[in-house]
Amino acid sequence: MFGSVAAKIKDAEKIVFVTGAGISQESGISTFRGKDGYWRRYDPMQLATIEAFYENPKLVWEWYEDRRRTILAARPNAGHTAIAELAKYKEVIVLTQNIDGLHQRAGSRNVYELHGSIIRIKCTACTFVENITSGFDVLPPKCVCGSILRPDVVWFGEPLPQHVWADAIMHAQSCDVMVIAGTSLLVSPANSLPFYAKQNGATLIEVNPERTVMSDEMDLSLRQTSAAILPQLVSLFK
Ligand code: APR
Ligand code: ZN
Repeated sequence: MFGSVAAKIKDAEKIVFVTGAGISQESGISTFRGKDGYWRRYDPMQLATIEAFYENPKLVWEWYEDRRRTILAARPNAGHTAIAELAKYKEVIVLTQNIDGLHQRAGSRNVYELHGSIIRIKCTACTFVENITSGFDVLPPKCVCGSILRPDVVWFGEPLPQHVWADAIMHAQSCDVMVIAGTSLLVSPANSLPFYAKQNGATLIEVNPERTVMSDEMDLSLRQTSAAILPQLVSLFK
């Protein structure tokens, strides 16, 4: 399975995972661009942009509430659990584009949410931020200051949380192995993380049933699902 890269994994001190919607697909959460993907049914420009939100906050809130219900009902899968377990053997950092919180629910500690979190909301005007655990009677919900609240996620055209992005680059530049699992690597700047790792001599491993735009840059591409592959990566240490 891992061939000559197995030694690199075993010798690695620090392993960074860059994950995307594909790692949560086996938890029953749709990807964005796969055959069952969200963007097949919805136009991302209608739902995941700040303009769409201000044009129709109720529609955007309804979409996120629907996704949040699916996500809260979902459970971490063997891929998430394997990454959490690997931290017993190595320094593991998770740089995820996902907003579903499943890495944390699987037990991973060092998780950086590059695109925010669907269970966190913030005010469009003041500094109010809060984790939410229940639904809302009225959409869009209002802040105590009177402004409307929004999901604390990064929409197309918005910058990533600066401190999160700076840390993500630092970790990408200082890892021995980077495992890129379940992402099409089509969205920037997250898709630049493998370049930072490669520039610093890291071994790149892709876990994706399909090819991606960066497959040719990888030291190893494993064409299976993350729930199938990642437990086998952990078993290298057992
Ligand atoms: N295991 C591993 N990979 C999988 C699996 C699986 N079970 N199922 C699908 N994949 C792969 C697909 O082949 C695809 O390459 O996961 C990838 C999912 O790609 P996208 O749907 O583009 O999701 P992602 O890369 O996370 O999108 C990045 O785009 O829409 C924005 O903000 C959103 O964070 C998201 C960002
Ligand atoms: Zn407010």
